[in-house]
Amino acid sequence: MLTCDKNIKDLKVLISEEEIQKKVKLLAEDIEKVFPKGEDIYVICVLKGSSMFCIDLIKHFKNPIQLEFIRISSYGHETKSTNNLQAIDLTLPNLNEKNVLIVEDIIDTGLTARFLTDLFKIKHLPKKLVFTSLLNKKCARQIEIEPDFYGFEIDDKFVVGYGLDYKGYYRNLPYIGYFPQ
Ligand code: IMP
Repeated sequence: MLTCDKNIKDLKVLISEEEIQKKVKLLAEDIEKVFPKGEDIYVICVLKGSSMFCIDLIKHFKNPIQLEFIRISSYGHETKSTNNLQAIDLTLPNLNEKNVLIVEDIIDTGLTARFLTDLFKIKHLPKKLVFTSLLNKKCARQIEIEPDFYGFEIDDKFVVGYGLDYKGYYRNLPYIGYFPQ
């Protein structure tokens, strides 16, 4: 039987469900303003971490949405970035001259964000490319990169919940939490 070695009883709330939901609505309103009114937006949900954020975000959009999923892994089972990006599934339709929004859960070292923005710019040649992340660990950055939009800046602590996991656990929590050291 699989069991997590970190107990939910030790988890501290960092960002509440209510704060997240308020922020996601505001973010969606701000993001949509940068796309031409009424045009299709191809929303790229980066699995698995951004699943909850992305689904909540698109509920607020008024433009027509095409939802696509890609899967990348950078952490394995560690709580520190391994600098070892694994592209598990990057299958996408033709995005040439399309409006594209990449939705990430968190920007930590920045390596995933750089990989994705370069890939989309070079391979897909979108009309407009916008990158958003719910969380931004600015202090953990290894390369210079900033999302166009983000929800919350956080300290360099490992967080779980609202799509983010520890060894596959805790993605289902409606809030963001951390385990104090
Ligand atoms: P980066 O390439 O180091 O910026 O890492 C990006 C990816 O690492 C994110 O999309 C997450 O999947 C994962 N990640 C980074 N920090 C955390 C964290 O605090 N908790 C859970 N996953 C994280």
